[in-house]
Amino acid sequence: MREYSIAAIPADGIGPEVISAGLEVLEALTQKAGGFQLKVEKFPWGSDYYKKHGTMMPANGLELLRPFSAIYFGAVGAPDVPDHITLWGLRLAICQGFDQYVNLRPTRILEGLSSPLRDCKPNDLDWVIVRENTEGEYSGQGGRAHRGFPEEVATETSIFTRRGVTRIMRFAFQLAQQRPRKLLTVVTKSNAQRHGMVFWDEIAAEVSKEFPEVIWDKMLVDAMTTRMVAKPASLDTIVATNLHADILSDLAAALAGSLGIAPTGNIDPERRFPSMFEPIHGAAFDITGKGIANPIGAFWTAAMMLAHLGEKDAVQRLMHAVERVTASGLHTPDLGGKATTREVTSAVCDAIHSSNV
Ligand code: IPM
Ligand code: MG
Repeated sequence: MREYSIAAIPADGIGPEVISAGLEVLEALTQKAGGFQLKVEKFPWGSDYYKKHGTMMPANGLELLRPFSAIYFGAVGAPDVPDHITLWGLRLAICQGFDQYVNLRPTRILEGLSSPLRDCKPNDLDWVIVRENTEGEYSGQGGRAHRGFPEEVATETSIFTRRGVTRIMRFAFQLAQQRPRKLLTVVTKSNAQRHGMVFWDEIAAEVSKEFPEVIWDKMLVDAMTTRMVAKPASLDTIVATNLHADILSDLAAALAGSLGIAPTGNIDPERRFPSMFEPIHGAAFDITGKGIANPIGAFWTAAMMLAHLGEKDAVQRLMHAVERVTASGLHTPDLGGKATTREVTSAVCDAIHSSNV
């Protein structure tokens, strides 16, 4: 029996609702599949923890997480704690502390869902966004001076390193090579940002030489938004900086039907540290506690986590069950339906139990 240890950090907002739904579905999978077990430990970190202790996680938080096979994360943020504190205190502290330099964001239109784009057929939109996840615009470099005076200044410096850009490009080219179309789009803004982004382009061109089979092109980020909407089928694998990919992945999720379904993995491809998997949607205070959060993002996220752990059959079974439910029309309000988190979760568990996949 293969056993994996999972650190669950449900954290804030709808995080606890969707993570417990996800754990229930994972439990159903291990019962059905046999072959592997998950040992789950929950960590009560996040904004409530911050209000009690003054930090989002304990000082030895990373040490506690380090032995786990993977981290299953909900969402961070609270209406009464500044976002940069919640974010830097937990999620980014884990991404950067564990050098999870790849953020992987697959997007496609699940069965039974539709794109808001009029002519977009399900097969026209099947993308993977590779987001640089440790540097760029999220380096946290900069400062404030002369606070409160008219000459007050703030700087926010983007950092691009040869090592950082090379490794994300290599990952993206490799991924593109493994996908059937072998198509990669490198997103840039080198017309306006003439240092970091020109460097980014140069390294893309260098790395491309290692992957002669990959057909690649370059898109300015602004033009990229137009292409995603006007010609979705012309895209496949996409690589972009931390901030550009942050923005494009929200657009991608919306074009695929809802932010509520989109998953992500913060991955250390070298496996020196545990990788962390989370739905893309945030804390969503407007619907917190109402029992209507879409758990599909957390389920797809669980599938990404299982893929990382090497449980390919379980991934198939889970996604098959998820799509049986999305196809059946049982949808939460973000998808235009009336179903609750509970109903969708039970339906996916039932689909797993009755599955012949
Ligand atoms: C995401 C989110 C985060 C980000 C927020 C919560 C800071 O939008 O994962 O896309 O910008 O990285
Ligand atoms: Mg985002």
